[in-house]
Amino acid sequence: MASASPPPPSTSLTSQQPPSQLPLRAMPGSYGWPLVGPLSDRLDYFWFQGPEKFFKTRADKYKSTVFRTNIPPAFPFFGDVNPNIVAVLDVKSFSYLFDMDLVDKRDVLIGDFRPSLDFYGGLRVGVYLDTTEPKHAKVKSFAMEILKRSSEVWLRELLSNLDKFWETVESDISKNDAASYMFTLQRCIFSFLTISLAGVNPSVSPDIAENGWKMLNKWLAIQVIPTTKIGLLPPLEEIFLHSWAYPFFLVAGDYKKLYNFISEHAGDVLRLGEKEFGLTRDESVHNLLFVLGFNAYGGFSVFLPSLIGKIVGDNTGLQERLRLEVRKICGSRSGLNFRTVNKLELVKSVVYETLRLSPPVPLQFARAREAFKISSHDAVFEVKKGELLCGYQPLVMRDANIFDDPEEFKPDRYIGQTGSELLNYLFWSNGPQTGTPSQSNKQCAAKDMVTFTACLIVADLFLRYDKVTGDVSSITTVEKAKLV
Ligand code: HEM
Repeated sequence: MASASPPPPSTSLTSQQPPSQLPLRAMPGSYGWPLVGPLSDRLDYFWFQGPEKFFKTRADKYKSTVFRTNIPPAFPFFGDVNPNIVAVLDVKSFSYLFDMDLVDKRDVLIGDFRPSLDFYGGLRVGVYLDTTEPKHAKVKSFAMEILKRSSEVWLRELLSNLDKFWETVESDISKNDAASYMFTLQRCIFSFLTISLAGVNPSVSPDIAENGWKMLNKWLAIQVIPTTKIGLLPPLEEIFLHSWAYPFFLVAGDYKKLYNFISEHAGDVLRLGEKEFGLTRDESVHNLLFVLGFNAYGGFSVFLPSLIGKIVGDNTGLQERLRLEVRKICGSRSGLNFRTVNKLELVKSVVYETLRLSPPVPLQFARAREAFKISSHDAVFEVKKGELLCGYQPLVMRDANIFDDPEEFKPDRYIGQTGSELLNYLFWSNGPQTGTPSQSNKQCAAKDMVTFTACLIVADLFLRYDKVTGDVSSITTVEKAKLV
């Protein structure tokens, strides 16, 4: 670990830490002229610089990892979205986002812009609720209970869907020399998650089995378009995609089908929401759909291609090391379970390192409940009540004060005592990897299930194959395992 690391970012350490000997510095940065400032920052963010360069050039210019700026969306035709933020770009200042005494997470999942509630049946689903709202505890407990109950089905369904995934990949390679795997993967993730979380096999509805994952893709895309760089010709993207919020009616028919599917077939889980957690049936359906479609399906759709791409694109000998570890500890497919997977030190470290360098949810937001002082590694700054903090994780996770050679993918980074201490600073789940998701924080309910699932996918891959080549979007060759 690099020398000047701060103490682990637990809640008490950020909120009760005395402002320290660090100098108090006026917060650099500005919002510019009304309308002109936000618009020029928006063009930098999406067009001239892209998100990473946007934050990096400003941090360099102000010689600070904490500063004020604007972030899209800035809608020229809508006055109700405030683009002003305080950027927090190092591990220490970012950890204030987890301190629920200091910050409020109400309606800030993707910034000051919140998609219309029509996307969720008119309800503020759990992820938009702050911990001070009593309903947050109910919905979070509901999500955690669903996960707990699904754990046995989870393993079985994941493995059975991986069978389908690799069968399709192999068949596509034999026909086309390469397999673009994103859609195949999404279809399998959808099936596995629906059975595991909602307790219903999509095959009970031919339309949902065939199209459910496409419906979710559209529902997700329409919500986040105004905040996302797509990569079209910039003027077209700015005019047509980033200038207004897309209305719900474009996906209303699909959402209704998904709602009906859950309402008709997920009876056991919905009863759990009603009886154990005091939610109405309608709240249970919309929250289940959100957890399934946005959190779980959306999260895995972003994360898994970066993990698979990293491994199949490697030519440093990592595949061989992973294969040896997996076969030594798990032996064969019947040896894949929570206990054995937990012993796969290298596999786990590779999963963590992928989450560090490619955090699936790059931006995190939280609003100051009151005025407070925030520390970076170098200075202390005053944050005003109501200001929106915005952390850009891809830069935070390359904080040179914490991670040695921060730009480098080091497969072994998290192995051993020193390595495991770094888990205090791995933040992909909106909290440290050593933290515990609960009713009183906003950490991902599936923090451990996500990393377990990822490890299982890697382990399964190396029980099937000796070697796989490809990249983040396609697989070009697979060499079947000779030794298993
Ligand atoms: C790779 C997959 C996943 C990723 C990357 C991911 C990431 C995240 C992140 C970053 C947050 C915090 C959002 C914020 O408030 O800023 C979050 C919250 C949440 N996630 Fe996950 N997640 C994943 C999978 C799942 C799964 C499988 C579930 C299933 C139960 C889940 C359930 C939740 C819930 C319920 C919350 C809201 C927590 C709260 O309101 O206190 N996530 N997730």
